[in-house]
Amino acid sequence: MSTNLSVTTEDYLKSITELKDYKGFATLADISQILGTARQTVYDEIKILLEKNFVKRDRRGKYSLTEDGEKEANLFLRKHRVAEVILWKGLNMKWSMLDDQAMGIEHGITEEIISAACSKFNCDKCPHGNPIPDAYGRVSIPVDLKYDDLEPEQGYSVSRVIFETPEVLQFLEANSLLPDARILKLNQQGMFKLGNNGNLHIPGHILNAIRFRK
Ligand code: FE2
Ligand code: FE2
Repeated sequence: MSTNLSVTTEDYLKSITELKDYKGFATLADISQILGTARQTVYDEIKILLEKNFVKRDRRGKYSLTEDGEKEANLFLRKHRVAEVILWKGLNMKWSMLDDQAMGIEHGITEEIISAACSKFNCDKCPHGNPIPDAYGRVSIPVDLKYDDLEPEQGYSVSRVIFETPEVLQFLEANSLLPDARILKLNQQGMFKLGNNGNLHIPGHILNAIRFRK
């Protein structure tokens, strides 16, 4: 995130959700890197989240959300993902900038705005393919595939981007790999044939940020 807006509790919950999906846990260093905040600031905020029982910590300093924390995170992801839909479908902003630019409006999105936006635009998913939780913080996670589940010489669609960093999003946009794009997995590690018939090598850290479906 490159914007200089103040980072809120909601942003911490979002970052921990994304890191959990991407690598299985979040460390203080990961969170500080994603949010662009000092380690001490992250430590102080995490302490508050532990006290509120939104976050749990294992003995190795790996953090994840509790059930209460997940619900709270989903309520915010609802606002975040609808904000992305508004910026994309309403304002035609660039796909790779949506996650970052949503920072400017997402915290103030109300249920009234959500229902107005969703009656105008399709609000099932965010522009990166992630489901939009309901007003109670419930969400059904799509059953899709990781790169390691894919078989060579088989065709797949991009399902969603689970780790929306500017680098990941810019790479996917430059190669027209938005949700629903069709690709064929080739034999070599990370190699694909694209819909336009060109071949592309996708680096491992970007592959881990994508989910696929048949
Ligand atoms: Fe996002
Ligand atoms: Fe998104």
